[in-house]
Amino acid sequence: MYAGALENEFAREVRAGLTRSGQKTLPCRYLYDDVGSALFEAITFLPEYGLTRADARIIQKNARAIVGCLPPNVLVAELGSGSGTKTRALLEALRRRQVVVYYPIDVSGAALAKCARELGPVGAVLPIESTYVRGLTDVAERRAPGQTLLVLFLGSTIGNFESEAAVDFLYALRLCLRPGDALLLGTDLVKPAEQLAAAYDDPAGVTAAFNLNLLARINRELDADFDLRQFEHVARWDKQAQRVEMHLRSRIYQIANVRSADLLVDFVPNETICTETCQKFRPEQPREMARQAGFRLAAQWLDAEWPFAENLLVAV
Ligand SMILES: C[S@@+](CC[C@H](N)C(=O)[O-])C[C@H]1O[C@@H](n2cnc3c(N)ncnc32)[C@H](O)[C@@H]1O
Repeated sequence: MYAGALENEFAREVRAGLTRSGQKTLPCRYLYDDVGSALFEAITFLPEYGLTRADARIIQKNARAIVGCLPPNVLVAELGSGSGTKTRALLEALRRRQVVVYYPIDVSGAALAKCARELGPVGAVLPIESTYVRGLTDVAERRAPGQTLLVLFLGSTIGNFESEAAVDFLYALRLCLRPGDALLLGTDLVKPAEQLAAAYDDPAGVTAAFNLNLLARINRELDADFDLRQFEHVARWDKQAQRVEMHLRSRIYQIANVRSADLLVDFVPNETICTETCQKFRPEQPREMARQAGFRLAAQWLDAEWPFAENLLVAV
């Protein structure tokens, strides 16, 4: 294999995902380069994508109650913060009783820069460009004695993990925490198939552009030649598994060359690459997930307009 590619995690993961037997895949975290983060931000404004507004409504309405559940002297870390827009209400509620220190953790430098600009006036914003667990380990090492950590994992991003992997992931977070630390976990709930179809395949094509940008990113960063016009965005609701899957479907037989990964990959017509899975939850599921991962569910808030649950987990 081409030596430079070995040092490049992106190239390695692209190679692994596109050469695996059965379903081709690409890790969803690579959807978020500067262009992808901007497109995701646009998705959150789409009328069909009610998820972000539901999450924001719950936080806005219950920020004081959420803060009231926490001990004094809290340090806030947010996993996959994106622009952090929804977090403002929570930080403002916290500021009524203490100095705010907030660590947004994200793989997207562009999203972190926006987050620091927007939330800077509320407190000390200390961005960490990293993956989730690495970033949280870093924050946990920086905390002073007597400080309690509040970890935010909003937007139902936990849904990007398949069921068992989600519990393993929560357990990995738990290992970074101490008893009494808290995790505010947003979970999008099961809803009618038509509503989910529109949310993940909007008529304006913004979600399609977000998905296709992953191939554009591979072209830009890994010297590849995917023909974006020969792929189309597909969103599938798997009722049995309770998840939406996003795919890129090849319209024709084609071969792509990913030079920095030393990879030639072919696609038969209608073959797909799975780029993201979005698990949906029943309201009672977070309690059981929490239990399995070493937390207890301390409180849960639901949105009245768009089925969504905000769950406050406490490390036991
Ligand atoms: C679905 S968006 C959610 C953004 C925001 N939390 C919200 O609720 O609107 C996922 C965010 O997580 C970031 N992300 C994805 N995979 C990541 C990973 N493995 N480690 C750190 N950040 C990641 C992305 O850059 C993006 O900002």
